[in-house]
Amino acid sequence: MKVAPSILTADFLHLEKDVKMIDSCADYLHLDIMDGTLVPNISFGFPVVEAVSNAVSIPLDAHLMVVNPQKWFSRLAELGVDMLSFHLEATGWKTSSAIRAAKKLGMKVGLAINPDVPVEKLFKYIGKVDFFLIMSVFAGFGGQKFIYETIDRVSKLRAEIVRKGASTLIEVDGGVDSTNVGTLARSGVDIVVAGSAVLSSPDPIATVRALQAA
Ligand code: DX5
Ligand code: ZN
Repeated sequence: MKVAPSILTADFLHLEKDVKMIDSCADYLHLDIMDGTLVPNISFGFPVVEAVSNAVSIPLDAHLMVVNPQKWFSRLAELGVDMLSFHLEATGWKTSSAIRAAKKLGMKVGLAINPDVPVEKLFKYIGKVDFFLIMSVFAGFGGQKFIYETIDRVSKLRAEIVRKGASTLIEVDGGVDSTNVGTLARSGVDIVVAGSAVLSSPDPIATVRALQAA
């Protein structure tokens, strides 16, 4: 399992400490960018993305929880974002053009959905995006409880990806910890985001390694 720790619940007064820790052991660093409109919270913006980008060598996985995400693609690409996901709820009928725009900038593109969006809505984008980001909590806050129906949704999506012979990856985000990562791995998940499970652990590096072993 690839692991992308999120810094959403990091100690922002000492961000360097958590960022360096993540850089030393994880596969990606997950950046949760919120606008207070698509989701009921505001996290951080470009100055933080830039500072983190300058401090890490692992790829940056930016999760845009904003309306009109296309507005920010080139800025994020310039800041060194490698993987960029945005929500189907935000792009609607403009989703295909948004995917093309992000790809043109050289980023790996992911399409995200909240738990109340039918997973079948992603089927037509199989093979068109590099990965899907399946929310296992409602986007907006770290530290929420994993929604178990996610397992069924992921299995359905994985089956359809296999049926189409595509190589689209699946990333799951929200409430992931040692109790559900094994089931996620068996359901065909490639990448998990883990915020509080890693950052509130007494030994964050060992926690990342344990998730990777799933
Ligand atoms: C929620 C974010 C998640 C979250 C993960 O809106 O997209 O990335 O921070 O944190 P945990 O693992 O604490 O749910
Ligand atoms: Zn996220």
